[in-house]
Amino acid sequence: MPHDTLPQPAVARRSAGLSGTIRIPGDKSISHRSLMFGGLAAGETRITGLLEGEDVLNTGRAMQALGAAIRKDGDVWIVGGTGNGGLLAPEAPLDFGNAGTGSRLTMGLVGAYDFETTIIGDASLSKRPMGRILHPLRLMGTQVRAAEGDKLPVTLRGPGVASPLTYRVPMASAQVKSAVLLAGLNAPGITTVIEPVMTRDHTERMLAGFGAALSVETDATGVRTIRLEGQGKLTGQTIDVPGDPSSAAFPLVAALIVPGSDITIRNVLMNPTRTGLILMLQEMGADIEVLDRRMTGGEDVADLRVRSSALKGVTVPAERAPSMIDEYPVLAVAAAFAEGTTIMQGLEELRVKESDRLSAVADGLKLNGVDCSEGKDSLIVRGRPDGKGLGNAVGRKVSTHLDHRIAMSFLVMGLAAERPVTIDDSAMIATSFPEFFAMMTRLGATIET
Ligand code: S3P
Repeated sequence: MPHDTLPQPAVARRSAGLSGTIRIPGDKSISHRSLMFGGLAAGETRITGLLEGEDVLNTGRAMQALGAAIRKDGDVWIVGGTGNGGLLAPEAPLDFGNAGTGSRLTMGLVGAYDFETTIIGDASLSKRPMGRILHPLRLMGTQVRAAEGDKLPVTLRGPGVASPLTYRVPMASAQVKSAVLLAGLNAPGITTVIEPVMTRDHTERMLAGFGAALSVETDATGVRTIRLEGQGKLTGQTIDVPGDPSSAAFPLVAALIVPGSDITIRNVLMNPTRTGLILMLQEMGADIEVLDRRMTGGEDVADLRVRSSALKGVTVPAERAPSMIDEYPVLAVAAAFAEGTTIMQGLEELRVKESDRLSAVADGLKLNGVDCSEGKDSLIVRGRPDGKGLGNAVGRKVSTHLDHRIAMSFLVMGLAAERPVTIDDSAMIATSFPEFFAMMTRLGATIET
């Protein structure tokens, strides 16, 4: 997203039952990795179903600046890679806009190269902590210049020869795990990442698919040890990107809370590291039918039939957080329409997403009449099943803080609340789900910009 885009307020109004079938766009995590790994591998990578959101397009531009050739032919993205070890020094700073994944994984990718790379981003990304990536890179011998507090802009210069690392990831973060593994691709010897709590495993699965010598061992307590042999050959692949469960979450929750809804969402990634929200909603009483489970490009995929449901409040265990980390804002909206109280715990990572999502959600819920309490790392929501009194008749706007998932969550809320819900900006929705407005409108949602 250009950094100077004017805010685009939007309002969602109580809608009649949603109906129809949609095909959800490509998974953001897999799309970023497809362009990165394709850009690094020798030969050609052909990608279908790529998410064409701003975040992913920025990763594509960065890979071009690092030497990859990327073009689109019909529906297929064709990436000519440099070969592992063959990235070129970029001539200008790499601008990742709003994208944490793009920027952090790229720091890993270039972190062991003996050239300078500068990474910049928008106002949201420039506030997010980068020390979690810079710390392991420094241990590998990378020189780092960063804004105060290890924020963007960051300039990296890898050592002549990087030292392979054994690194225990201190927080549940797939981005940190991935950045260390990607730096390890250009270091001699074995890089080892110890992951105490399992997070999304797309990097491991996809690197193995590209031919990396990578092994994963899980001990009896669930601690994973990932070993990667550096400087091996990566070979271009054909990738069909499955639909993003984190995007599917918005029409899914909308259909549950808008009475009389019955929708089908096709092509949803069902990797167990990503399905926490679906399980949680089912435990709340959601009518979600998982249809036609199949494999697409080495990943579990299914279609979801979702009908409006009477939801009950639940306690969401902290251990579920990594498998639904991006879904708490929209889960909190579902909880606002559930009978009883929903308690969400273990949410410390929400404070360092595209916004401080814990306070952004709590503030937005309160503005729209929801009874909720924000703790240091918890959120308690006391629901009102019929949405009576919820929303904001005078149009006070939810502050979205440049966060696409806050924007979409509150628009979903407005579809079932008694009064409209207005958000201060919707432009950044294009970072992850450019088709959101068209798809929601096609299902019968009343959303106006
Ligand atoms: C992502 C990892 C998660 C997630 C983000 C995408 C990835 O972040 O929130 O949207 O693709 O690796 P953390 O690694 O910070 O948990």
